Amino acid sequence: MSNPGTQQAAQLNFLSPEEMADPGVSIQRLYAGDRCQYYELFDPPFYVLSRYEDVNHVLMNPTRFLSGSGQGPNFIEPGGIVSDAPMHTFYRQLVQNDFKPGSISKLQPRLEAIAEELLDAVEGKETWDLHDDFSFPLPVIIICEIFGIPTDDIAQFKMWSDYSVAALSSPDPTQYASELQRMQDYIVSLVRDKRPDMRDNSLMARIARARQDGATISDEDAVRIVTQLFVAGNETTTSLMTNLMMRLLGDGYRWADFCAGKIDVDKAINESLRYDPPLLAMFRTTAAEEDIAGVTIPANTKVMIHYAAANRDPKVFENPHDFDVDRPVRKMLSFALGLHFCVGAELAKLEAKVMLAALSKRQPNLQMINEGDRVGPFLFWGRSKLPVKPGN
Ligand code: HEM
Repeated sequence: MSNPGTQQAAQLNFLSPEEMADPGVSIQRLYAGDRCQYYELFDPPFYVLSRYEDVNHVLMNPTRFLSGSGQGPNFIEPGGIVSDAPMHTFYRQLVQNDFKPGSISKLQPRLEAIAEELLDAVEGKETWDLHDDFSFPLPVIIICEIFGIPTDDIAQFKMWSDYSVAALSSPDPTQYASELQRMQDYIVSLVRDKRPDMRDNSLMARIARARQDGATISDEDAVRIVTQLFVAGNETTTSLMTNLMMRLLGDGYRWADFCAGKIDVDKAINESLRYDPPLLAMFRTTAAEEDIAGVTIPANTKVMIHYAAANRDPKVFENPHDFDVDRPVRKMLSFALGLHFCVGAELAKLEAKVMLAALSKRQPNLQMINEGDRVGPFLFWGRSKLPVKPGN
């Protein structure tokens, strides 16, 4: 089989200002090149898959395309849910019941109450920030409550969460090591407090007391899974909310139609996830040599599966570059598929629904002042600022 002469659109550079500002630019460059492209601008270099069929193939073959070396471009040791069977099976079973639809729907009244409190706090303000004042605190507060930990320092949590996601896609993750160590130390003390308290039935207490092979799991393992859940759900859900509102408040001002009941809530959320995935891409590592579209990928090599590009595959989605809240729902890949399908998908969608209901009731004339700022890490897509005003 031939390699490595894969045709890469000359300019593909995920860190260039134009691709950072608009992932649609990366997507067009990816489709201008071959199905399987070799990307040398990162150390270590990796292969990129962008077509729906190929991303789907990788997701549905988790024993050939492994998760244990990390979901980012850097190689890391397997741990917690970022792993492969049997470790993955154990951790997934430990937490997934808490995130099933039946468990998540019970959180709705509490989410609605938090949303009301957050909107009370901006009531009467001439301008406010949809990221800072709403879409960042909502997911952080609810995940702290699910874990059974104090919510009095959410700014600190947010900072640690941001460092964790930055480390995931950074060429030099060591720069975040000392802050991340502080996060570990904080969580380890919570785990140790909760483990012996048998009246505490929170998710964190149950993780702390989980048993594997006849022994309670170590502090280190408990901290790892708590951290992973915490980090996986925050920035992503925040981004879903800001991305969705940026589109509804942007060109065409579909917010008025939404508030008039002309747009289906589920379709709007699905379309936001398809068009603006909070996680643009993730990585797998080849267990053995693989052949994709005539390209040989060596064993133990990182493969980027570009969710955002697969979501705009013209073979699957008509007019894929249009943001169209009325499009028929087809399976977008923004929560992945198969064994590693997002544990928190139901929670994230419910949070977005609660936001839409609360905002349409309280701020039906809302206007976007500008598109604010993009979140930092290149694998992520969302706003870190989204200034708005109540309108009239
Ligand atoms: C809109 C919000 C969210 C998006 C777009 C999202 C996206 C994803 C994606 C793409 C994956 C697969 C990762 C891979 O390919 O390796 C994933 C996995 C995961 N997500 Fe989410 N996620 C969101 C919210 C959440 C929330 C709220 C939680 C939990 C509180 C969560 C917990 C997880 C966990 C634990 C995994 C690992 C699953 C496994 O490997 O078995 N996510 N998510």
